Amino acid sequence: MMDEDKAGQDERAREILRVNDRGGYTVPTARLYPFQWNWDSALVAMGWAMFDEARGWREIEMLLAGQWEDGFVPHIVFHAPSEDYFPGPEVWGLAERAPPTSGITQPPVLATAVRWMLERARARAEAAARAAAIYPRLVASHRWWVRARDPHASGLVTTLHPWETGMDNSPAWDEALARVPRETTTPIVRRDIAHVAAAMRPRAEEYERFIHLVDLFRGLGWSPEKMLAESPFKVVDIGTNAILLRAERDLLVLARRFGSVAERAEIEARIARQGAAIGRLWSGAGGIYFSADLIANALIPVSTSAGMLPVFASEYGHAAALAARLRAWAEAVRWLVPSIAPDSPSFEPQRYWRGPVWPCMNWMLADGFGAAGETATARLLAEAMGALIRASGFYEYFDPCDGAGLGGTDFSWTAAVALLLPREGEGDPRF
Ligand code: DGY
Repeated sequence: MMDEDKAGQDERAREILRVNDRGGYTVPTARLYPFQWNWDSALVAMGWAMFDEARGWREIEMLLAGQWEDGFVPHIVFHAPSEDYFPGPEVWGLAERAPPTSGITQPPVLATAVRWMLERARARAEAAARAAAIYPRLVASHRWWVRARDPHASGLVTTLHPWETGMDNSPAWDEALARVPRETTTPIVRRDIAHVAAAMRPRAEEYERFIHLVDLFRGLGWSPEKMLAESPFKVVDIGTNAILLRAERDLLVLARRFGSVAERAEIEARIARQGAAIGRLWSGAGGIYFSADLIANALIPVSTSAGMLPVFASEYGHAAALAARLRAWAEAVRWLVPSIAPDSPSFEPQRYWRGPVWPCMNWMLADGFGAAGETATARLLAEAMGALIRASGFYEYFDPCDGAGLGGTDFSWTAAVALLLPREGEGDPRF
C-alpha cells in the first residue's frame, strides 16, 4: 500500500474509533452491537494504542469492570441501556449486576493485547503501572478458564455456546448445535436483521438454539459446574484453545515482570499441558487442526480458518502445511482468508462465519505466520486486508469472492486492524 493511502486510511480508522467511543469503551458498530464486546475490545485497545495509549488502557479497564468475582470475563458488558440489540441484560437475567453483563464468555485475546500494548508503549511508566494493575485480573481470568472449563486438566477447554467461540454460525457447529432444542422460554425478537440484511446473518433456527442455551444456563443460575454438566452443546473449539494458549504465553511474559515465582510456575505448567493437548486436534488427513465435539466424542471434520490459529499460539510444527493449505484456498477465492474452506458444501461467501473474510482472523493469522517464518503468507493476509478496506470500506466482514463489504459498517475492529497494518516496505510482515 502506498504511504499516502495508508495515511488516509489511518485517519479514517482513527475517526471510526472516536465515533464509536462511548466514553471509555468502544462499541463494535453503532446500533447492531451497542455495548462492549470482549474479543473486539482487545483488538480495539491495540488500535487505540497506536495513537492514544491512555485510551487503549481504558478500553481494557472498562471491559474488566464487567469481570465477575470468580475471574470470569463476560462476552458482553452492558454499560448503558439500548433497545437496538437482542438479547439484552434482562434475557441473561443479569440486569442487577453493576455493570450488567452476559453470562457466557468469548475467546481470551486480552492478555495478548496487554503484552502488546506494554511492549510498544511510549509512555512507559504509565503503561507499566496500568499493566501491573490489570495483571492480577488476567491471572484470575486464566484460572477461571481451567477451573470452569477444564476441571480435569486435560489441557483443552470446553465451549458451551457458539457465541463463546465468536464464530457463531460456523459450519463446524452445525451437527453439535442440531442437538440443541429449538424451543425457547424467551420470545425471540431479532434486532440484528433490522440493521443488516438477513442473508448476512445466522438463520432463525440457529437463533432459536442460541436462545435455548441462554434460557437453560440462566435457569442453572450461571453455575459453571452445572452448565458444564448439563449443556447439550459441548465442543473443544480449536480457535478458543489456540487463542488461550497464545494468551498464556503472553501472560507468562507479564508474570516475569509483575508476578510471583509460584504464578510463573503455574502458567508454565498450563502452557506445557495445553501445548501437548492441542496437538491432538491436528488432522493429518485434513491437513488442518479441527475442533472436537465432546458429546459425539469425535473430531469435527470441517476445515475452518480457526483450524490455522495454532500458528498464532506459537505452535509451528504444521505451519508450512497450513500455509500450503491457505495457498490452495487462494486458488478458489480472490481474497484470503475465508472463514471456511471454499470447496466445502457449507461455504456461503456472504453469511457471517460460513465463508466471509474477518479482520480479526487476518490479524491473528498474519501475526502467527509471520512469527513462524512463513513471511509470504503473512504478507498476503496483511495485503488482502488493506485492499479489502480500501476497495469496500471498514466493514465487519467481507465476501472472499468479490470483496464486497458485509455486515456492520464503520466497524471498530476493522479500524483497529487497519491501524495495525504495516506500511509498504516495512520489514516485519507481522502486524
Ligand atoms: C451477535 O449478537 O451476533 C453476537 O455475535 C453475539 O455475541
